[in-house]
Amino acid sequence: MARIVAIASQKGGVGKTTTAINLAAYLAIAGKRCLLVDLDPQANATSGLGIESPPHSPLPGLLEGSVKTSQVMVDTTVPGLSCLPSTSHPEIPVTTAMVQGGGVSKLRAAWKQAANDPLALVLLDCPPSVGPLTDLALQLADSVLVPVQCEYFAMEGLAQLLEGMRHAEHSQQREIPLEGLVLTLFSPEVEICHEVAEEVRRYFPEDTFETPILRDPTLAEASSHGEPICNYDPRSAGAWSYLNLTKEVLEHEWTETGTRA
Ligand SMILES: Nc1ncnc2c1ncn2[C@@H]1O[C@H](COP(=O)(O)OP(=O)(O)OP(=O)(O)O)[C@@H](O)[C@H]1O
Ligand SMILES: [Mg+2]
Repeated sequence: MARIVAIASQKGGVGKTTTAINLAAYLAIAGKRCLLVDLDPQANATSGLGIESPPHSPLPGLLEGSVKTSQVMVDTTVPGLSCLPSTSHPEIPVTTAMVQGGGVSKLRAAWKQAANDPLALVLLDCPPSVGPLTDLALQLADSVLVPVQCEYFAMEGLAQLLEGMRHAEHSQQREIPLEGLVLTLFSPEVEICHEVAEEVRRYFPEDTFETPILRDPTLAEASSHGEPICNYDPRSAGAWSYLNLTKEVLEHEWTETGTRA
């Protein structure tokens, strides 16, 4: 049964999309069939995988049940990794009514139990805002992975995200735990990075991944070339960071219902 992980933070530019692309790519390389769903109208995950944005968002059709995921997902250059692309149209394609409708649980069930070509993981790349798209991600997800940039005010907005998760738990009567907090854009030579890492680990001792994602311009270069780092420069510090993060994610054990064992 697939595990659905939302990659979310209301803060912009903290590494959500970079984490979604490269974690998904290494999960696929590890043999876990993976779907990356681009829920952000910026369509950065779509372009970062070298995929052209479709003229219309597939989300309304998927939620209405008139479109199947297999009809709209696209293969990537990484075997085992598919992408559900976003349009680059700035209009938000999903309304609050759609998020509250029955289509969400049907789509969630379809991803979790795809009969043909079953998925092991579905990663949801969220926009940097609260609103219907992030709400949709929280309704669809089994767990939430939060990139935390090693900068001042790193944990700003986190309380709001946790509140959104509690709300989704309440409306669905199931647990939606943290997959974990990932320290991103970490520069070992910069003191504030160590201070932020220490603070995050103090507040979330059980839920912070060991691996910090090093600041490495190769990661930005890879995305601008439409390639995950595993294809672009597998020996770079950024590649090493995401490979280690993937190993940690794979060490998490989950029950059939989607809660952490
Ligand atoms: N570890 C890193 N080292 C260097 N550059 C990085 C790293 N992670 C991300 N970046 C760059 O920082 C910028 C923001 O990263 P990214 O797009 O992943 O963040 P985001 O949280 O998805 O942003 P948004 O909130 O706008 O969706 C991008 O230009 C990306 O290439
Ligand atoms: Mg993004």
